[in-house]
Amino acid sequence: MTSRPVIDDLSSFWMPFTANRQFKAAPRLLESAKGMYYRSTDGREILDGCAGLWCVNAGHGRDEIVAAITQQLSTLDFAPTFQMGHPLAFEAAKKVAELMPEGLDRIFFTNSGSESVDTALKIALAYHRARGEGQRTRLIGRERGYHGVGFGGISVGGIAPNRKTFSGALLPAVDHLPHTHNLEHNAFSKGQPAWGAHLAEELERIVALHDASTIAAVIVEPVAGSTGVLVPPQGYLQKLREICTKHGILLIFDEVITGFGRLGKATASEHFGVTPDLITLAKAINNASIPMGAVAASRTIHDTVVGSGAPGAIELFHGYTYSAHPAAAAAAIATLDLYRRDQLFERAASLAPTFEAAAHGLRDAKHVKDVRNLGLVAGIELESRDGAPGARAYEAFVKCFEAGVLIRFTGDILAFSPPLIIDEEQIARLFRTVGEVLATVQ
Ligand SMILES: Cc1ncc(COP(=O)(O)O)c(C=O)c1O
Repeated sequence: MTSRPVIDDLSSFWMPFTANRQFKAAPRLLESAKGMYYRSTDGREILDGCAGLWCVNAGHGRDEIVAAITQQLSTLDFAPTFQMGHPLAFEAAKKVAELMPEGLDRIFFTNSGSESVDTALKIALAYHRARGEGQRTRLIGRERGYHGVGFGGISVGGIAPNRKTFSGALLPAVDHLPHTHNLEHNAFSKGQPAWGAHLAEELERIVALHDASTIAAVIVEPVAGSTGVLVPPQGYLQKLREICTKHGILLIFDEVITGFGRLGKATASEHFGVTPDLITLAKAINNASIPMGAVAASRTIHDTVVGSGAPGAIELFHGYTYSAHPAAAAAAIATLDLYRRDQLFERAASLAPTFEAAAHGLRDAKHVKDVRNLGLVAGIELESRDGAPGARAYEAFVKCFEAGVLIRFTGDILAFSPPLIIDEEQIARLFRTVGEVLATVQ
């Protein structure tokens, strides 16, 4: 196979979530990938320390997934799922449902995490309306939450830069729980921090302010990824669940990052033993090979909404042209089979202690002010440079890439979430490289 010429004009692509001018002045380009490694356009192997964007859980270029997609595209390239169907859509939904907590077995397909979030919020409103409580329209998110980039997602999300430009156009009836990140109490926690469960009780304060009868749903990431790996305090999610149940408020877990093995179980809900009413999914649902997301809804929610329409009427006015696209569905089926065959969730669970030890091995590295972890996720928080927040982590990220390791960074936090096929040697190399790089970072 001849490789394509390296592109020399980068101006047309307006890059997402990127400092475009900075990137284009010194680009980092990837041209192929297999297993645990990317290959850059300058011919270097790059160890993937973040599964692309927390999504390639089975590792890159898996033959079974590629074959399923190729076969599907040559058999049925596209079929509508509005008032029509194709068998793989139903099969993929059943396979996803089998991995969800008991009772959350009705699957609505989307094309991304952002769409899953907006879909889940809309389902929550539709559910309350269907049961005669249409006044429940308020949505509760959390500070430092990331729920994608739709207007619903940024409204319930808690990241200022995602919101300020659009502040005049956010959803009107939204409130936020406080985040749970507190280094004074929880620095260098291994796994779930001991302090902070009481922060869930802030939901009672919000309920008292607005009245439960106006609140439709609470949405949180069980482990917040994009704002720097915030692991929930012990007992926190259980408490949120209790308060939501007490007040008839739906609980939505945004599992776009935690779904499909990241914590060593199919879902974070299973890992924590807390069952929400709706789960949002995307990314690893089909190993990120074709855009796809999903919402898993409880049977009660599904049956209430679907049972509420007049016979012959569309019950939920919502859907995407590419909901359950045949190629994405084929990829999901092949991926979920692969996860099971190779026991990748179990593998993640058994590697977690090694991963934890390697990450915490950097607690005394230069600039480090916290290390935190759960499953195959870790965050390393650095002291910020005076007057230049984020600059230190950016320098570390670039130097890691130059040293052959791909990591993520957000603010001054380095984030790690490798494919679940990583081995012990690669874990050691990942964190050794980061340690060497930190020693050279200003
Ligand atoms: C928790 C969470 N929700 C939603 C999203 C948005 O997903 P997407 O980028 O596929 O729209 C992300 C992306 O990282 C995420 O981490």
